[in-house]
Amino acid sequence: MISKRIHIMSDTANNTRSTPQAEKPWNGRFTEPTDAFVEAFTASVTFDQRMYNQDIDGSIAHARMLAHVGVLTDEERDRIIDGLEQIRTRIHSGEFNWSIKLEDVHMNIEAALTDLIGITGKKLHTGRSRNDQVATDIRLYLREEIDHIVAELKRLQTALIDLAEREADTIMPGFTHLQTAQPVTFGHHMLAWFENLERDRSRFMDCRKRVNIMPLGAAALAGTTYPIDREFTARELGFEGVCQNSLDAVSDRDFAIELTAHAALLMTHLSRFSEELVLWASAQFNFVELSDSFCTGSSIMPQKKNPDVPELVRGKTGRVNGHLISLLTLMKSQPLAYNKDNQEDKEPLFDTIDTLKGSLKVYADMMQHVSVNKEAMREAAIRGFSTATDLADYLVRAGVPFRDAHEVVGKAVRLGVDSGRDLAEISLQELQQFSDQIQEDVFEVLTLEGSVSARNHLGGTAPEQVRAAVKRARERIA
Ligand code: ARG
Repeated sequence: MISKRIHIMSDTANNTRSTPQAEKPWNGRFTEPTDAFVEAFTASVTFDQRMYNQDIDGSIAHARMLAHVGVLTDEERDRIIDGLEQIRTRIHSGEFNWSIKLEDVHMNIEAALTDLIGITGKKLHTGRSRNDQVATDIRLYLREEIDHIVAELKRLQTALIDLAEREADTIMPGFTHLQTAQPVTFGHHMLAWFENLERDRSRFMDCRKRVNIMPLGAAALAGTTYPIDREFTARELGFEGVCQNSLDAVSDRDFAIELTAHAALLMTHLSRFSEELVLWASAQFNFVELSDSFCTGSSIMPQKKNPDVPELVRGKTGRVNGHLISLLTLMKSQPLAYNKDNQEDKEPLFDTIDTLKGSLKVYADMMQHVSVNKEAMREAAIRGFSTATDLADYLVRAGVPFRDAHEVVGKAVRLGVDSGRDLAEISLQELQQFSDQIQEDVFEVLTLEGSVSARNHLGGTAPEQVRAAVKRARERIA
């Protein structure tokens, strides 16, 4: 009741201005004030204020369009723009008082504008609704964030390319089932993750096209009776097109779901990579050392150096996966057009962006400071009989059918296991007891270097191929 009375009094006292803190734009229809808890429960300003820049940009473009079609005078347009810019400065410097009574970022800014410039401020909302306004704000916000994400991705990709180039000749065991399979180069392994991230990058850039379409003009749901020029507003805001159906424009959030799905997939890639780094940094593998500045110690065990960054990124993946499910579930039962449910899109979306950007940043920085323990990798590749397939291929080239070759090599490996030797350490005479096709030149294929350089084709692990792939990778992200 109190807020209603303040509303009436302020309107009587000064018809061109009202007290923004007490004003509800729908008060005309209501006889009772909003319940205090409901007011807090339904408000979004605590989190949607992060879109204030986009909200102001959208309002300025809308005001320009309204003047362009003659709904506002040029003078009114300029007063509005000037007022909005003052508000932007105030928010930016932390001097703006956000009020949950005004529910969201849109009404807070609009009320402040009216407070600042008087009745003209009330004209800004002509031909628009918060429904098309919020959809526009999110799209502008995400468009900008996609550009940040893509930039961070490129920084991480560059770190991987640099590492691949440095370690093009470094040999490590390649794994399947986490069992030593065949030797590969560390550079080749890094470029595998580059490829994953390159697909992620292309997904984000593709999604940007669907994000960058303008809902404004849809108004609440059905469009507006004013002679608006949507193409004009779209040009002002740098949108590539306008939403073609007003109902769809205010209710669609699939661009946000799509973006979150891409984020979940990217996080999944980082999580897999993290799992490798955690293993590799362990005393048991000892393949890599992460820089001290990306690790922490233990408060009780002095010997510990924990790979917290990859562990946390792996953990945060669950959070982004959860946000994807939240958004899908949020949408699944909504009839057209706008529903208040959609206000719930922001927190999962914002947290997805923050989590992803943070993970990318820390990864890009961390990967610039990884040191590689070539000796340990080499040792592990030798211990795991990783050139066994090369011996089988050698026998096949000498005319032995592959299945028979497989059996011969199996026996040689058995001997190696029993006598604690790698294949290259077994004498020619001993090898020949399994097959008389084995000659002195067998040792060329049994070495790790021989094994990797023999895989010299597009997409193969040979150092020569890795260097060529590094060159192509740099061009692809240029
Ligand atoms: N805060 C709302 C949101 O985030 C803005 C749109 C509200 N529109 C409405 N008619 N209640 O979705």
